[in-house]
Amino acid sequence: MSSLLSTWGSRLRLRFGLPTSSERQSPAVVAERPLRASARGTRTTVARAARSTREEVEVERLQRGIAELYDESSGVWEDIWGDHMHHGFYDSNAVVSLSDHRSAQIRMIEEALRFASLPAEDKLKTPRTIVDVGCGIGGSSRYLARKYGAQCQGITLSPVQVQMAQALAAEQGLADKVSFQVADALNQPFSDGQFDLVWSMESGEHMPDKMKFVSELARVAAPGARIIIVTWCHRDLAPSEESLRPKEKELLNKICNAFYLPDWCSSADYVDLLRSLSLEDIKAADWSEYVAPFWPAVIKTALTWKGLTSLLRSGWKTIKGALVMPLMIEGYKKDLIKFSIITCRKPEK
Ligand SMILES: C[S@@+](CC[C@H](N)C(=O)[O-])C[C@H]1O[C@@H](n2cnc3c(N)ncnc32)[C@H](O)[C@@H]1O
Repeated sequence: MSSLLSTWGSRLRLRFGLPTSSERQSPAVVAERPLRASARGTRTTVARAARSTREEVEVERLQRGIAELYDESSGVWEDIWGDHMHHGFYDSNAVVSLSDHRSAQIRMIEEALRFASLPAEDKLKTPRTIVDVGCGIGGSSRYLARKYGAQCQGITLSPVQVQMAQALAAEQGLADKVSFQVADALNQPFSDGQFDLVWSMESGEHMPDKMKFVSELARVAAPGARIIIVTWCHRDLAPSEESLRPKEKELLNKICNAFYLPDWCSSADYVDLLRSLSLEDIKAADWSEYVAPFWPAVIKTALTWKGLTSLLRSGWKTIKGALVMPLMIEGYKKDLIKFSIITCRKPEK
């Protein structure tokens, strides 16, 4: 059992960039080494510092790109698609018309709550405080605040999204229920155990450090709180596989470049991470078949006169995103991209 845990632990560490056990040796052990080893140790420390500086620069560049993409594209999206910037949930094999999509996006929220067994009726059990991590222009925040009569705080990297989310909240008479700020999901400006629902709708795919991401979700969750992550994943790897196939990586890389995404992980990876944090009642599902009509519909609206003129006015980052939308369809068709929901509960004690 212990060897199984340690193999699993080192797999997680390698995959998610955590220090390996040799990198985490205690100072006492290092001090006992002969001098030559200590010089080598210094070189290793310098190399590690250089690597972490490089990684920090990469993360900063990624996050600047994400902020600029959403600053640029959120107005266009709202104009054409409304205030929910996420997939819709449809009956499998349903024939849908363009007017069905807003209700499919609301259905996505409702299905996620149902999957996580969040009751709407029992007033004692409904969430009173909610964090919306990667809130976009606040569609989920306002919906959840209204549904539960809860206080909801949203965070996003995009200052434009914060302004839009606040303006929409004021317009809808929800200014005292919801608030928004620019903040990093990997370093949230909240105290431990603050929220009894932690919600992340299609933001996890932007997170460069999935371990830090789920650790922060768990940290801000109150004891007994639900955590719901709805996100893009790649397919689970077969036991014989170490990584995706080169052609698959090539396809995902093109999507990453256009949508400002770091490396992808699988839903099984998320489950491993949540387990490693001792979270309870972990459940995951693949909803790819229920989101199939989404990207064809987005492409269809982009090709209308309104869509094309809005795109041309928006900017290069938005156009670049639009150009890779067919690759999302290809990824789903090839069973490479998975639309995943992963949920768990923070233990009471
Ligand atoms: C596809 S949008 C989803 C928006 C919203 N959840 C919805 O469903 O309408 C992705 C969101 O994740 C946010 N995001 C990405 N990385 C983030 C980070 N490190 N910290 C906070 N927000 C982040 C983006 O700013 C954007 O608001």
